This record gives sequence, C-alpha cells and structure tokens, in this order.
Amino acid sequence: MHFFYTFVRLHFQSIMTEKILILDFGSQVTQLIGRRVRELNVYCEIHPFNKMPQIGPDVRGVILSGSPASVRDANAPRLDLSGIKGRLPLLGICYGAQYLAHTYGGSVENSGSREYGRAMLRVVDSASPLMAGISAETQVWMSHGDTITRLPEGAEVIGSTEDVANAAYHIRGEDTYAVQFHPEVFHTKEGPRMLENFVKGICGCKGDWTAESFIDTTVAALRRQIGSDHVILGLSGGVDSTVAAVLLNKAIGSQLHCIFVDNGLLRKNEFSDVLESYKDMGLNVTGVDAGEKFLAALAGKSEPEAKRKAIGGAFIEVFDAEAQKVTGARWLAQGTIYPDVIESCSVNGPSAKIKSHHNVGGLPEKMNLKIVEPLRSLFKDEVRRVGRALGIKDELVGRHPFPGPSLGIRILGEVTAEKLEILRNADDIFIRGLRAYKCDLPCASEPLRRATNLYDAIWQAGVMLLPVRSVGVMGDERTYEYTVALRAVVSTDGMTADWFPLPYDFMAKVSNDIINKVRGVNRVCYDISSKPPATIEWE
Ligand code: XMP
Repeated sequence: MHFFYTFVRLHFQSIMTEKILILDFGSQVTQLIGRRVRELNVYCEIHPFNKMPQIGPDVRGVILSGSPASVRDANAPRLDLSGIKGRLPLLGICYGAQYLAHTYGGSVENSGSREYGRAMLRVVDSASPLMAGISAETQVWMSHGDTITRLPEGAEVIGSTEDVANAAYHIRGEDTYAVQFHPEVFHTKEGPRMLENFVKGICGCKGDWTAESFIDTTVAALRRQIGSDHVILGLSGGVDSTVAAVLLNKAIGSQLHCIFVDNGLLRKNEFSDVLESYKDMGLNVTGVDAGEKFLAALAGKSEPEAKRKAIGGAFIEVFDAEAQKVTGARWLAQGTIYPDVIESCSVNGPSAKIKSHHNVGGLPEKMNLKIVEPLRSLFKDEVRRVGRALGIKDELVGRHPFPGPSLGIRILGEVTAEKLEILRNADDIFIRGLRAYKCDLPCASEPLRRATNLYDAIWQAGVMLLPVRSVGVMGDERTYEYTVALRAVVSTDGMTADWFPLPYDFMAKVSNDIINKVRGVNRVCYDISSKPPATIEWE
C-alpha cells in the first residue's frame, strides 16, 4: 500500500498578541534566554540567525544571542538588521553586543586576556531603563575572547567592569541596548531584572502569557482546526503525552482516541497504575498488552542501537495495528515540546550521533495522518505548569523523564524476562524510597518550586542492571549474583547532567533493602559520573 504523509501543523503562535523574537547565533545558552523571558509570562520564539521569520506586528522586541564565533572571523554569523534596529527594541547579548558594535561603526578586538567568569558590573548610567532598580555594583557572568574597544555610532556606556569598559551600552535615539555579559545565566545575579527591564519596560510587554491563557487559546485553536475530525494519540505515561491528551480531551472530548502500549519493559505496576489514572481523568484510552512481542523482537540482541531499533520497530507495528481500528481518524497527536522543535544553530558543523533518541521517527510517515502538536511551543517546566492548571495530579505531572525504550536500555546487554523482573524490583525500591525521603530543596524539574521529597529534587533517576556477577555472602551461603547501579541526576534538558548527592543514610537503606529483598542482586553501586563525559542512560 502507498502511504503518504500530509504535514499540517497548528500554529498557536499566531494567536499571541505580543512576543519577543530571539535570534540565535549558536550560543550554548540561547535556550536559557528563552526560558527567562517565558518566566516573565511573555511568549518568545528562538530562530536561527540565518532563518529570521517575518517580523509581524506582534513582535515587541528582538534579542540577539551569544555565539562561539568571533565577529572578526571571515565566516562569522551575520544577519540583516535593517528592518529591526532603530524600529523595534533590540538587545544584543555577548556576541550580539559585539556584532552590533562591529556592524555599526564600533570596533571589536581580541581582548588579550580572555574574559571568562564572574565580574562586578558598575552601573554607569542608573537612569538607563535597562538598569532600572539594579544595584550600583552587581555580579555578572562574562564569557568571551573578544572585547568591544570602540562603541558603535551614537552609543553611550551604561555599565562597566574593571576589565571591560564597554560592558553595557545604549544607542541614543533608539531602543537599542547591548551587554557583553550573559544576563540569562544564574551567576548574573540581577540578570532576571535586567531582562525584565528590557522585555516589560523597554518593549512594553504586558506579561499575560500564563498557563491558563495558554489553555484557553490552545483549546479554542484545537477546536477550530480539528472540527469534527477524530484524533489518535499515543500515551506513554510521560508528562508530555499526558498533558497533550488532557488538553485535547478538553477541546474535543470523545473524538480523541488514546492508545497506551505496554511494551513489557515498563516499571513495576506502571502499566496498570497509569492506565487506571488515565481512565480516572476521563480519557478515552485503550491499553494494549504487547510485552511478548517486544521481548521476542529483543531476543538475541545486545547492542544498544540494535535494541533501540527492535523496540521502536515493534512499537510502530503495534501502534499502527491498533490505530487502524479507529475509523475516520484524520489526525495523529504528538507530545512534541519546544526543545524538540528549536532548530539548533550550529556554527561548528554537525555534531556526532551518540544515541538515536527518536525511536518512533517512522510513525507519522506510516500512518497517512495530519500531525497536531499542542505543546510545540512549551518548555518542559511550562508543560508541567499547564498540566497542573488542567488539574492533572502531581504524581503524573511531576514524573521524571523516562526513555522510550524503557527498561530495555537499562538492562545492559541482552534483555530477558528474568533480568526484567530483577530490575523492576530494584528500581521500585529505589523510586519509592526517593518519594518517601523528605527534604526541602529546589525542585529539579521546575526551578520555581520547592521539592518536598528527594524524587522532586532530582531530575531523573533509575536503576541499571549490569551484566556482571560477583561473589557475596548471605547467612553462611556464598552468592554469585548481579550488580545494580543507581543513577540520579540533575539537569535542565538532559543535554548535560550532574550526579545528585544522595544522602548517605538514604543510600545505606536503599542498598540494604535491594540486597535483602531482590533475589539475584548482591551488590549496589552509585553512579557518580556527570554528562559529559558519561551519558545519563548506560546504553
Ligand atoms: P542520555 O543517555 O543520552 O539521555 O544522556 C538523555 C535523556 O534522553 C533519554 N533517552 C532516551 N529517550 N529514547 C528516548 O525517548 C531513547 O532511546 C533514549 N535514550 C536516552 C534519557 O532517559 C535522558 O532523559
């Protein structure tokens, strides 16, 4: 049969009345600028510098990001700002500030000593709207090898550090501002206030983009676009697909058909518990028990990418067969979120492929359905806030990320039913222990909240079953059993991660519980590797 793929997306963005445009020159922290603007309840979009969208009347201001490049390079990233500079508020950050200087009559030179890390900014012009309410001296974070030695035409200094005279400037007669430091990073203490001064003060944004307003506009847009059509959605138990389903359910009710596949590789009791929660939420959901099929597809495979392929392939088959039973479906809904959509802008060439994370990439092509992605414009913590505003219970909204291939890539080497049973039991003890341990720490997945237990203070946690047996002693008996490794990390997006300092008393108890209660394990290790150079999953 010939399948064709009609690619139609819903553009909720067009409903926004105000937005900030961020033009990305390839900095590692461009997404952070976006997150900081969103924290002000202002919608923003990130676009690569060389794919600038049309500037509509909803654009209230533009931010130019940093970059690993130097404006002095022959092939430095460049763009045409004639439609923006002097017409709209403009903020250049780091490379963005140097680019404005270099392009409009100033000069940028190698700074001799590289300017990295902490510096104290002295506000030179406290009347500047960008500096409103900022302390006379405030800590900022620098990260550049070049420096602005002459300001662009018509510019005046508004802030300096000991080593960087032109740390912040303003172009007279325009709403053009620039800072050579990074206001978006944590170490720039009053960075959020500076960004607020730009976005709300200078650009005049109202800041009315909240979870509730997002829900209202999205539900209305979904109803308009989908009409009386039917929609299929794959639920995974994860936050994104759950929130997407509840939003769609609010918009189109029983026209939404959810499919939740049990791949036999889920956590202990996960399939039945989550399926029950879905039903409680009023979702029209079909659970498909396909564990045997996945185990058969995995038999004899021990190489990580081969395992991923086998699991992805089995999923597409099972899901497609179930979807065929829904008559009249025209749309496939997906829980795609903004970090999956932002086109990364690489000035250093493509990066090497480490793991194939998109395991079901072939699905839409196979199904002859239009795509609807209601969360396309949201960061993960915003998805969680929308989920809470929709009334989804914390246990589901606050879940850690979990890989599509599930425990299949946490059993190193070949997956068998016996190993799955061991891993499930060890993982269950670890995760329940994290939920039960009380603490007061920043919530890893939603920086604006406090965590009341270890689980919420951690971004992702799980157990790996290693293909190693070692000798132990239990009672008077010699044992020869598996080792498990516990993994718990903090991260913002999974791209980088650091191991979480679990309390000793917690580790002691979990290790003891696992070894005493899980048949087949006699040794527990804790993984203290960061990413990079390690990765979060072991496969
Ligand atoms: P790594 O191991 O690459 O993981 O540091 C980063 C994040 O991605 C998840 N992950 C996957 N997710 N399919 C997925 O859907 C995959 O094949 C896959 N591999 C890793 C991982 O759990 C972490 O959140």
